Amino acid sequence: MSDYPKTGREIQLAARPEGWPAGENFRLAEVPVREPGDGQVLVRNLYMSVDPYMRGRMNDVKSYVPPFQLDAPLDGGAIGEVVESRSDRHKAGDLVLHSLGWRDYAVLDGKRARIIDTALAPATAYLGVLGMTGLTAYAGLTKVAEFKEGDVVFVSGAAGAVGSLVGQIAKALGARKVIGSAGSAEKVQRLLDLGFDEAFNYHDGPVKEQLKKAAGADGIDVYFDNVGGEHLEAAISVLNKYGRIAMCGAISQYNTTDAPTGPRNLALAIGKELTLRGFIVGSYNEYADEFAGLMSGWLRDGAVSYDETFVEGLENAPQAFIDLMKGANKGKMIVTLQN
Ligand SMILES: NC(=O)c1ccc[n+]([C@@H]2O[C@H](COP(=O)([O-])OP(=O)(O)OC[C@H]3O[C@@H](n4cnc5c(N)ncnc54)[C@H](OP(=O)(O)O)[C@@H]3O)[C@@H](O)[C@H]2O)c1
Repeated sequence: MSDYPKTGREIQLAARPEGWPAGENFRLAEVPVREPGDGQVLVRNLYMSVDPYMRGRMNDVKSYVPPFQLDAPLDGGAIGEVVESRSDRHKAGDLVLHSLGWRDYAVLDGKRARIIDTALAPATAYLGVLGMTGLTAYAGLTKVAEFKEGDVVFVSGAAGAVGSLVGQIAKALGARKVIGSAGSAEKVQRLLDLGFDEAFNYHDGPVKEQLKKAAGADGIDVYFDNVGGEHLEAAISVLNKYGRIAMCGAISQYNTTDAPTGPRNLALAIGKELTLRGFIVGSYNEYADEFAGLMSGWLRDGAVSYDETFVEGLENAPQAFIDLMKGANKGKMIVTLQN
């Protein structure tokens, strides 16, 4: 084996959270670094993603991704450098995108480690704007909500990784108006700087009143829902006839043990002939190339910019994850690993 440490650190799930996760739900463990087998690569991780969907995987329930196992390492999107390759597709030094984050070193099959091109974009872009996050925004808006030119679009969680891209993609594709909601005055200003036409802080008053005011006589045609609850209820009220909702996430509910309070007005969907459609980005991989082409162009010509919030150190990854769900991030939350 080449020259790298015999052990590496990983974050394990120590106990399943009830409600908000806390430090005691996680454990930093020192484990042996395995030698790669035939067809495998050993990767030293440089960056890892923390994402809201990981909260659901901490519960022991059947879902579209299997739950994390107790006393085993968590996993998720990561970028690392191949330090040893027994795969004929990779050589030492290749930068790869893969799904074994939350650890210093990962051993995985070469076919699960996608070489990334940093001439095209910085490595971390593949965890966000050019990765799963970007595809979620693009597919959710264009395929799920069936966005069309001239639509008025409202997106919640708008200063976050997915939301900030939804608004900018909508503008790039000819939205008449884009409205975003976020959790602070600073984030609201950022949305306006990114080209959103209207933005409001959902802490400043009832979402419905603020959304009505922002939409004015136009109403809204599309709601991209990252939040659920009060936001979803407000959007149902303000949507125009034949309005469409892409149900992407419901982060207002991920850490609460109380029953959801809304939406209480779902019956409005009947008379307005609304479409509410949930989706999982993994079902839209067929659009990955279409999306990558469009997004590369938008990044080149400046139609889309993206924010990243960095937290340093694997040992701080659990707190970064918790802080993400409390709104500490602008754009994509990324943990940098040093080993
Ligand atoms: N369906 C899919 O395939 C798919 C794929 C990726 C992501 N998602 C979903 O998309 C959403 C956004 O994900 P992301 O990765 O882009 O995360 P993100 O938006 O970058 O981070 C989460 C944000 O949620 C906001 N938030 C937290 N609690 C809130 C509440 N009670 N009400 C309103 N906003 C709240 C916070 O911003 P504020 O400061 O504004 O509160 C925080 O920054 C999540 O719901 C996620 O589960 C779905």
